[in-house]
Amino acid sequence: MDQSEFKQRRQQLIEIIGKGGMAILPTAPERLRNSNVHYRYRPDSNFYYLTGFAEPDAIAVIVPQREQGQFILFCREKDPEKETWNGRRAGLEGACQIYGADDAFPITDIDEIIPGLLESCRRLYYPMGYYEEFDAKVIEWMNNLRGRARTGVVTPKEMVALDHILHETRLRKTESEMALMKQSIAVAIRAHQRAMSCCRPGLYEYELAADIEHEITKSGCRSPAYPTIVAGGGNACILHYVENSELLQEGDLVLVDAGAELNYYASDITRTYPVNGRFNKQQKIIYELVLKAQKAALKKIYAGNRWNEPYDAAVQVVVEGLCELGLLVGKIEEIIQEEAYKRFYMHRIGHWIGMDVHDPGEYKVDEVWRVLEPGMVMTVEPGIYIPPLLEVPKEWWNIGVRIEDNVLITEEGHEVLTAELPKTVWEIEEFMAARI
Ligand code: GLY
Ligand code: MN
Ligand code: MN
Repeated sequence: MDQSEFKQRRQQLIEIIGKGGMAILPTAPERLRNSNVHYRYRPDSNFYYLTGFAEPDAIAVIVPQREQGQFILFCREKDPEKETWNGRRAGLEGACQIYGADDAFPITDIDEIIPGLLESCRRLYYPMGYYEEFDAKVIEWMNNLRGRARTGVVTPKEMVALDHILHETRLRKTESEMALMKQSIAVAIRAHQRAMSCCRPGLYEYELAADIEHEITKSGCRSPAYPTIVAGGGNACILHYVENSELLQEGDLVLVDAGAELNYYASDITRTYPVNGRFNKQQKIIYELVLKAQKAALKKIYAGNRWNEPYDAAVQVVVEGLCELGLLVGKIEEIIQEEAYKRFYMHRIGHWIGMDVHDPGEYKVDEVWRVLEPGMVMTVEPGIYIPPLLEVPKEWWNIGVRIEDNVLITEEGHEVLTAELPKTVWEIEEFMAARI
């Protein structure tokens, strides 16, 4: 992503905040895995969105119309010895020269500098509740200022949720964001194709996951966008099955939910297919029902329609289909009203996707479902999961199907960004028949 885009985002925020406001945005802390070993560092998405800066121990401060500069970056100083052990640092100079900060200070100086800036601030824009330790610091700065009120010090009168503002802008993707998302999706498609072409009875779920993750990381992605799910047979009925530890069996379906994170943008795709490459009768019936529900949902995805419409359309199809099969019994409206279908379809239709796989952004605005707008990207992922329930005939047991695509809302309607991956029964069987 070009530095000019980060600058543009800051400019947009500066205009929203206006004179008298000030934003403080911390990045994510490093997370300890065990002993003194850390997880690989991933900056906070909001922080990266605004700065393009990926080092830990950093804080961005935006003060509109501050004479000495509006964008201040607190970060680690250069330190040849520490850099030898733990990697390069931009340092204060790099913060200004590479990342466009107007001013940069050592992260160790925040207690000396930020309270002074807060003194001339009327509205503080801050994402409260994400990082406990830093929240405590902000509260401490505010309390210290209040304690000095009698000396004429003024504290901010308003606290505004900075996360909410950034989440709203993140919701509408720019052209360059879409270019990155499409690259991330292209990697995920390749990974799924590879899994589909390797799949056969007798493999362990983790072997398929390894193929997927190899394809993802060798394509330059830092990692999958979330823990890869490879769920054979009844494991598909566990929505967040991540053990990936069992054998893929002849005659079972396998549900594969995998996506990549490329340059901080996620993809999130699910395909379900027969381990041996051919659907049996019941599997095909359920699969085609989920596909029909997804099609009905997709038809409702266009600018001006509301967030709940695709879900409602999918539920209608799922309920009608399950009633026809005798797996649900009763009046369709009542089953929907009472949500009795949730024993087979228990999640929603999807979520926003972007820098985070479950990207932030409200689904309801002023208590009504949000209107879809061009530039928003969402997943569409209906599913039917049939665990071994006594009241369900045995031939349906352990069939779990989810079909998940990533969809961009456009001026004309929508674009299924993941359309290239085989999806119909025929496409999947054809693709798998060509396996080596
Ligand atoms: N893979 C996470 C999700 O589908 O929401
Ligand atoms: Mn998803
Ligand atoms: Mn998924």
